[in-house]
Amino acid sequence: MILITGAAGFIGGNFVHHWFERSEEPVVVLDKLTYAGNPATIQSHLDAGRCTLVQGDIGDRALVERLLAEHRPRAVLHFAAESHVDRSIHGPGEFIQTNMVGTFELLEAVRAYWGALPADDKAAFRFLHVSTDEVYGSLSETDPAFSETTPYAPNSPYSASKAGSDHLVRAYHHTYGLPTLTTNCSNNYGPYHFPEKLIPLMILNALEGKPLPVYGDGQNIR
Ligand SMILES: NC(=O)c1ccc[n+]([C@@H]2O[C@H](COP(=O)([O-])OP(=O)(O)OC[C@H]3O[C@@H](n4cnc5c(N)ncnc54)[C@H](O)[C@@H]3O)[C@@H](O)[C@H]2O)c1
Repeated sequence: MILITGAAGFIGGNFVHHWFERSEEPVVVLDKLTYAGNPATIQSHLDAGRCTLVQGDIGDRALVERLLAEHRPRAVLHFAAESHVDRSIHGPGEFIQTNMVGTFELLEAVRAYWGALPADDKAAFRFLHVSTDEVYGSLSETDPAFSETTPYAPNSPYSASKAGSDHLVRAYHHTYGLPTLTTNCSNNYGPYHFPEKLIPLMILNALEGKPLPVYGDGQNIR
């Protein structure tokens, strides 16, 4: 059993499809179903009974504790986030609340659960934190590509909130030994992408003959 946060969203939903192409191990999804969450993305797996969707907030520690106690996952995959940069500029509060405070509450619940596991399960447990390359800021044309040792330099409330969550995850590993992994991938695109994001927005606007909006001066490099 694995617990996945935010899997009614774009990447988490794709991950669930990918998972069930390779595994029959059941999945519990915790998702708040914000504007970005669409359970239809994973409906076939819900209907098949191998995937359970719980609507709730990662910041609801009592709920997360209950789910962990009930389902006894061997891993937590943390995709849930407020993820749209432009929205973070207009309303940063939700980003701090979900990405930082929510990740903190999730980590606290997972730490307590993990700490009480038998030794073998404890050693095999993983907490995968899905973050972004936006924590590294932006590059000039002559800079080398980002690497895992690039200093953090977030430029938007979104990337700052993700950077904060990365630091919390790192601290839980170093302070408490929680077995964590953090990924800092670049932009993803593909099926089930919410239409506010660059590629689906461009395609939809182009199909409707509307202008193609470019962020800033279009010169940003990551
Ligand atoms: N999309 C990209 O190109 C990209 C690139 C790098 C990193 N990421 C990271 O990958 C992860 C997934 O991104 P995405 O594009 O699928 O995002 P998304 O916005 O499509 O989906 C986020 C999901 O999280 C849920 N959610 C939001 N707040 C929640 C909360 N408080 N509690 C529980 N669920 C909540 C939403 O309902 C939604 O289903 C995020 O952590 C994001 O920062 C995304």
